[in-house]
Amino acid sequence: MTAFHAATVAYMNRQCKSPEPCVLVIFGATGDLTSRKLLPALYNLALDSQLPKNFVCVAFARKDKTDQEFRDEMLEAVSNFSRVKPIDKKLWKSFSSKIFYHRSDFHEDEGYENLRERLEGFDKKFKTKGNRLYYLSTQPSFFSLVTDKLKEHELIYNYSSSQEDKWSRVIVEKPFGHDLQSAEQLQHEMTSQLNENQIFRIDHYLGKETVQNILLFRFSNLFFEANWNNRYVDHIQISVSEDMGVGTRGKFWEEAGMLRDIVQNHMMQLLSLVAMEPPTCLNANAIRNEKVKVVESIRPFELDKIDKYAVRGQYGKGKIKEGQVKGYRQEDNVDPKSNVETFVALELFIDNWRWSGVPFYLRAGKRLPSRATEIAVVFKEIPGFLFETQGAKVEQNVLVIRIQPDEGISLRMNCKVPGLTALQPVKMDFQYGEYFKATPPEAYERLLYDCMIGDNTLFARADEVMASWRLLTPLLEKWNEEPPMKFPNYPAGTWGPKESDQLLERSGRQWL
Ligand SMILES: NC(=O)c1ccc[n+]([C@@H]2O[C@H](COP(=O)([O-])OP(=O)(O)OC[C@H]3O[C@@H](n4cnc5c(N)ncnc54)[C@H](OP(=O)(O)O)[C@@H]3O)[C@@H](O)[C@H]2O)c1
Repeated sequence: MTAFHAATVAYMNRQCKSPEPCVLVIFGATGDLTSRKLLPALYNLALDSQLPKNFVCVAFARKDKTDQEFRDEMLEAVSNFSRVKPIDKKLWKSFSSKIFYHRSDFHEDEGYENLRERLEGFDKKFKTKGNRLYYLSTQPSFFSLVTDKLKEHELIYNYSSSQEDKWSRVIVEKPFGHDLQSAEQLQHEMTSQLNENQIFRIDHYLGKETVQNILLFRFSNLFFEANWNNRYVDHIQISVSEDMGVGTRGKFWEEAGMLRDIVQNHMMQLLSLVAMEPPTCLNANAIRNEKVKVVESIRPFELDKIDKYAVRGQYGKGKIKEGQVKGYRQEDNVDPKSNVETFVALELFIDNWRWSGVPFYLRAGKRLPSRATEIAVVFKEIPGFLFETQGAKVEQNVLVIRIQPDEGISLRMNCKVPGLTALQPVKMDFQYGEYFKATPPEAYERLLYDCMIGDNTLFARADEVMASWRLLTPLLEKWNEEPPMKFPNYPAGTWGPKESDQLLERSGRQWL
């Protein structure tokens, strides 16, 4: 078996690997993420027999609660948000008996001392062998504090010490920094306590089946891969549209904005998977090496012509399916004069051999007409005028990868209309759910499982994160220096400001 073949088989088979015994400690466990995503994901892993047999979950937060109170709350959360319903009562009983609540403030040394004693007790009682997974489901401002405290209280192992038969890993939620400088600072602080291989930076998009499929689809179908370059591809569109407004997350949104919340992480991940070269094998570093090269090859913005490449927008009041809705500036916890963007459209160029001259259009927005995440590869026009199309041009082939919802892949091609000599575009459509008749695991299931087996392929590596911030920080700064002239500039329920259409129209293209 060649090294490539061996690594490929390992990649495909990793779901068969049994995670080693461990304790998972969730910091910030009374938060929204734990009840909506993490506990339901753990329960579903238990259902699929993918949790280690010897497994304990410790919930660390500030509120006063007993173990039983926390378990009861989680039962309600899992009943609401589990992928598989109804809840299996017998399984819940054994699963929840290994969930414990640990009350402490992140700043309190005593809390970490007590935690260490408790974890050592669990190791003895549940045979968790000293392996630790720490999930920082907290505001990013706590990441360094918590890792420092973990190290100080000997809850993280130093790999050069005699404890190398045990492992400790730290999962951090996004965002990793809010610009290049803060991301570098955070990286510096975290790597003073941890090795890069111990840090698992979550970008939950990478846990989605359809996102993982981009890699497998591209590199297992010669048919498409042969055309996947500037000879045949006219341009690529990546769209993340949401019909919702900011809802209860006004405060968070005021500090983030669309460029930081979606473009810097999720969209850069999608872009790098679509544009990367084939890796030498399918191991974590080989894949991430190719992804980072893509982001590093994106042409930096010409800041004096920024309006040519980047459009920002903010929704005003408008009408959606459910009726009239308020504008961003009227949302709770939002400044009535806020200049935060809820829409971004970019034209990017990847300056490498494969993609030279091919524009990549990225669009992300809130309060757009529908919710969809899609990648569209638009192929070039056919040469010549062989066909009678009554003045209309022959439609270009378009391959659409639907990330969510209606996960699937469709291909637009041209066919002869029966009886006539005319052409008509038709769609060949593959739908995951319909074909495989199974609901794919939730992203957090896959990601938690991968952390337990120590596979960091689906986690962002530090250099990927920095490359993305290096590209986008100058744009953030430019936008900060020059506040928008006319926010809000698109009504809720529309496809964003007109400048977003113009971004493509000036080269004769349009959003799909
Ligand atoms: N929610 C999502 O869907 C989502 C999606 C992507 C990323 N994220 C990221 O994930 C992280 C967590 O999100 P979340 O929505 O779960 O946050 P959240 O609802 O605001 O919860 C924050 C948690 O941190 C705890 N906490 C805050 N200050 C503390 C302190 N000084 N000491 C001890 N505990 C403290 C809170 O405990 P008490 O309640 O006990 O005070 C609570 O458990 C954030 O960084 C967020 O950006 C969330």
